[in-house]
This record gives sequence, structure tokens and C-alpha cells, in this order.
Amino acid sequence: VSTPLADRELIARLTERERQRFTERTPISLQVARRAVEVMPLGVPTNVSALEPYPLVIAEGAGAYVCDVDGNRYCDYANGFGTSVFGHANTLISEAIAKQAARGTHFGALTMPTLAWAEELCFRYELDWVRFASSGTEATMDAIRLARALSGRELIAKIEGGYHGSHPEAMVSTNMELDASAGSDDRRPKPRLWGRGLPHRLLDDVAVLPFNDLGAAEELLQRGQTAAILIEPILFNVGAVFPEPGYLEGLRELCDTHGTLLIFDETKTAATVAFGGATELFGVEPDLKTLGKGIGGGLAVGAIGGRDERGYRLIESGQFPQLGTFPGNPLVAAAGHAALCEILTPAAYDGLEAHRAYLTEKLERVIAEHDLPAYVIGAGAKACIVWADPAAGPLRDYRDYRRRFDFEAGCLAWLYLVNEGILLAPGQDEQLTFSVAHGPEEAELLAGAFAELAAELRG
Ligand SMILES: Cc1ncc(COP(=O)(O)O)c(C=O)c1O
Repeated sequence: VSTPLADRELIARLTERERQRFTERTPISLQVARRAVEVMPLGVPTNVSALEPYPLVIAEGAGAYVCDVDGNRYCDYANGFGTSVFGHANTLISEAIAKQAARGTHFGALTMPTLAWAEELCFRYELDWVRFASSGTEATMDAIRLARALSGRELIAKIEGGYHGSHPEAMVSTNMELDASAGSDDRRPKPRLWGRGLPHRLLDDVAVLPFNDLGAAEELLQRGQTAAILIEPILFNVGAVFPEPGYLEGLRELCDTHGTLLIFDETKTAATVAFGGATELFGVEPDLKTLGKGIGGGLAVGAIGGRDERGYRLIESGQFPQLGTFPGNPLVAAAGHAALCEILTPAAYDGLEAHRAYLTEKLERVIAEHDLPAYVIGAGAKACIVWADPAAGPLRDYRDYRRRFDFEAGCLAWLYLVNEGILLAPGQDEQLTFSVAHGPEEAELLAGAFAELAAELRG
């Protein structure tokens, strides 16, 4: 058992000091943020980029580094919310984009880049067919509707705490405060609506399951009403919560038994955790898969695909209108194809695994030396410093995360590291993603700054 971080005043003091330091280091970001709030709520394009005390304004990036408008350089371990696993301004992608842009950026038609990209996605992610969207949000929205169409059922089950974008069904029981409205029975969470503007009927249309609990899934599925279970195979927006051995296999079996479709939301995991994404990592095949983020080479993207021929046939029949102006756009296709085929090769994933092993070893050593109640977990290009005592086991679901995770330490770590020139994803949502441009030097920068934070935390 690690020694708890008992001196909460110290954490509060350090956080205040780092907030001050952040302000001193980023006066131009502050100026720009003040201008931005005049035209955008919170001064950001969407809420995910909002930061306390104000958003950092990024000017440019190259390889493993980005620069803000004040000229501060950061080793980037955020990588655009887990997207830029190919490194910033990768010339192979820039050249592919430039080449396609010179031939036109959008036609709303089948193009050769779109076909080549679709073939690569089917090969890599073991899909028999694929269709495109412009974001992960649209991909999970289409997957839900397709599952309803295929099963003739309306109820969708999702995992409590899981994030799948911002369409209405996805906004049920995401990573919200754990309060009485979630219900006191950990095995039967109550569905909740995140924010205003969502119809209350959603509470009847979406059931919520605890992660890593096959008994709870069976109890729901045996009622014979569930169209699909929508699940991110690793919950990456609540620190990082991994499936226990047998969990995904068990869900597969339950879905087969009860006529429910299994949808893996691989928006985050596809291009990051292994060459073939989470399906390869865990060896479990869903019926439908959603993809996003890195598969588009850094441009806006989403995709849905499957091995279930019925999905293909239903779309083909015209009874399932799967629509959009931009999906499959040739610019995104060219960038995505270059990212996957020229950069994210099987050898690249070996390199990413090696980086993760090196980084994890360094961070774990700091944790051990300073007896911190924390541990490091990850796969492929993704990792997370989980601020919870590993003596109680790794976090196993959202409630565990809410109860055990030290959010004040996590918040301090983000601020501390940013001031030391290391950028992590803000909050605990997909905390660390690295790229093919990250090497031992970058791991040492992060581990060195983390060691300084650890020393300060232990007084
Ligand atoms: C697992 C998962 N699904 C869906 C989405 C939504 O993707 P997008 O932001 O492209 O709409 C995200 C975004 O972070 C995600 O992490």
C-alpha cells in the first residue's frame, strides 16, 4: 500500500503556484483567449479544448513537439486528443494532402483515394465493409441506428462513464459527477442525461452497464430487448480502465446468445493500441466497429464497418440511409491512407510499444522512489498515469475511478507538466498519447519533470 497524499494543502498550494506560473508564461495565449471569448463561448471551438485558467493557444507543431503563441515549446504527449500518432506535420501526410488539394478538395463522389483508403481499413481492421462519417460522433450515431435496424429492437446498452461523442444517445451517463442520480446500486446504474437539451425518452432508450461486469450484462440481455451493447474496449476517458481477462469474450458470448449486436467503438483505439486496433489486441470480434481520430491522418474523420453481411445488405437495399456530404472526402482519404500505409506500419507499432515500455518503466520508477499512490497503464501509443493506489487493484469501472482517482493530484500534474514543457491531454480523458516521432529523449523529459513533481509532492 502506498502512502496517501495526505497533505491536501500542499497540493492546493502547488496548484495555485503552477496556475500563476502558467499565467506568467502565456500572456499572449491570455490575450488571444480574451479575443476568442468575444466570438466563441469559453473562447474555444468546442468544450473539449477549454482549459483552466484559459486555453493554451497552439501556433504550430513538428514531430513530437508543439509551440504555443508565446513561443513556449512543449513535448506533446496529448497529440490532439489521441489523434496525431504519426507525429505533427509529418511530410508524408503533408505531401499527400498537397497533392490531392491541387486536384480538388471535395467532389461528393467516389474517388480513387477513398477506395484505396477503404480497402486499407478493411484489411487492417478485419472488416468486410466500411462506410464513412466525418467524426467519431457520427460513426457511433450511425452504428446505433444500424444495430436497431438489424435487430428490430430499440434499447441500446452502453457502459457507465463511457464516451462516444455528442449525439443524444451518447450523452447518457458519460463521465459525469457520481452523485445520487446515478443510483446507489453499483451493478444497476441509473441512466442519466449529461447536460440540458436531451429528451427524457432517452432514459428509456438507453440502458447503462458497469464495465467489467458480465453478470450485469447478462441480467439485461436476457430480457431479449437489447439491440446492441456499445462499448469502448478500453475506457480511455476515465483515466484508462482495461477489460479484465474474459470480459470482452464474455460479452461476445452473451451477445450471441441473446441476439444482441456487439459494437466496439474504436474511435480512439483503432490507430493507437495496435496495428489492428483493440480487436487485434484482445482477439475479440465485434459485429460492428466504429473508427475515427488517427485513421484520417489528422483531418476530421469517422467510419463504421462490420463483418456482418446483413449490415452491408441493409445499406445496399436503401432501407438504411447512411448519409453525408463530406464522408469519404478525398483530402481526408489521401491523408488517412498516407498515415496508415506509409507511417503506421507494423514496425511503427513495435516502436510505439518500445516507447511505452521505456516510458512506463521510468515513470513507475519515480512512483516507487517517491511512494506515490499511482500506477501507469496503457497499450500501444496510449498510456495513463492513474492517480489511484494500485494496492486495491487497477481501476475496474467508472465508479471505481470516481471514488479512487485523486483528481486534485491529476489536475496539479497537468499544470505542473505543462509549465515544464510537457503537454498532456487536459483532464483525465485520454491522458497520454505519443507518436512515432517520440523517442527516449522525450520519455526522459516527461519522466524528469514527473520526478520533480513527485519530489515536491513528498515535501
Ligand atoms: C471512444 C470515442 N468515441 C467517439 C468519440 C467522438 O469522436 P469525435 O470527437 O470525432 O466526434 C470520441 C472522441 O473523443 C471517443 O473517444
